[in-house]
This record gives sequence, structure tokens and C-alpha cells, in this order.
Amino acid sequence: MVKPIIAPSLLAGDFAKLGCDCHRMFDSGSDWVHLDVMDGHFVPNITMGPPIISALRNAVPRKEEAPGKYFFDCHMMVSNPEQWVPEIAKAGGDQYTFHYEATEKPLELTKLIKANGMKAACAIKPGTSVDVLFDLAPHLDMALVMTVEPGFGGQKFMADMMPKVEELRRRFPNMNIQVDGGLGKGTVEVAAEAGANVIVAGTSVFKAADPKEMIAYLRGEVQQ
Ligand code: DX5
Ligand code: ZN
Repeated sequence: MVKPIIAPSLLAGDFAKLGCDCHRMFDSGSDWVHLDVMDGHFVPNITMGPPIISALRNAVPRKEEAPGKYFFDCHMMVSNPEQWVPEIAKAGGDQYTFHYEATEKPLELTKLIKANGMKAACAIKPGTSVDVLFDLAPHLDMALVMTVEPGFGGQKFMADMMPKVEELRRRFPNMNIQVDGGLGKGTVEVAAEAGANVIVAGTSVFKAADPKEMIAYLRGEVQQ
């Protein structure tokens, strides 16, 4: 059985207080934080890059006695994802999720990420068939099925992506399967039912009156 992992997206946080938001999410029970790196080329928006991730890592240092705590899940919405692997590793990224659409050599990139000491994950946009992941999946630590077009927070969850999640779960019962975009009350149930266990949530967590309660809710839905 895969375990539930809740990963609030700092994209919905306050960019003037990212370190505080990061602490607040971990203190509220999140397993990971999800860092959305956008280059203004692969997607029509620009967010953060290695310098900000490095500053966040200084604000939330790894704990030797608790490896895996304060996990930085880096979602790389960039063209030429090969280029940033060493820098994201150096900045303190724990997992590097590249987009299948952005590379010609997904297996080589997966190996490069692992050689740099990070976990490797591959994301597919809504228009990309899940079939492209079948051969790659055994080499990956996680697959990300986008449930919105990447680029912006606060969009509507695309329930029609769920057959992709179902197919991946059927083929890979023990794999981490992440969904990203529009997750919250009313949609996490659908994603969990399809087989997703890693839930990215930006707006729903940061706009919640009680983020702690929302994170617990999301976890509860995946656990069922
Ligand atoms: C969108 C990003 C998401 C985004 C999710 O391109 O990849 O991680 O922050 O935000 P919500 O949960 O608001 O849809
Ligand atoms: Zn994301």
C-alpha cells in the first residue's frame, strides 16, 4: 500500500514570506512542500529558481536525525530540464520532477537526476497520453498527472484526467502517483478514488481558515 503524502504548493503562499510559509506548512502537518519552478518559456509564467530554493533550504535545514523531513518537491516547468539538475540539487531539492514534453531523453534525464542525489519524477500535461510513462515508470520515484494546464494556481480540477491515474495505479500498485491542480474538498476524493496518493494543494490549503485542518482532511481522504 502506498502512503498518503500531502504537498502544499508554495505558489499559493506569500512570496514575501516564503520561509515563514514553508515552516507553517510543515508545522501544520504537511509531508512535503511543492515548489513550482517556471521559466516563462515552457509555461507562460515566471516564479522561482535555484536561488530561492537555496534560501528556503537555509530557512528549513535538513535534519540529520530525521532524513526525509522537510522534503522539497521541485516541479520543474522549464524547457531544457537537463540544464538545472545540478543547481537544484545544490540548492537543496529532494525530488526533481521534469516534464515529459520538455525532453527528448527522459530515461537519461532520470539517471542524471539520480546521479545528482535526488529522487526523479516525470510529469505529463493534460494533453499528453499516459502511455508515454509505461516504460519509464519502473525507473521513476513518482509520476505526476497534471490536473490543470501548468502555469498558474487556482484553476479548475480536470476530472477527465482520472483514467490516466487509474491506468498508472493498475500497472504500478506501489508507485507514488501525484496529482497537481485544483485539489481540495470535493476533488481530492475523486483523485484518491482513482489511485493518487501524493496530493499537491495550493489554493485550498493556503486559503483555508485552518490549513492544518485542510491538510488533515486531504490526508484522510487518501487514507480511506
Ligand atoms: C500549476 C502548479 C500547481 C499549482 C497548484 O502549474 O503546478 O502546483 O500551484 O495550485 P492549486 O492547488 O491552486 O490549483
Ligand atoms: Zn506544481
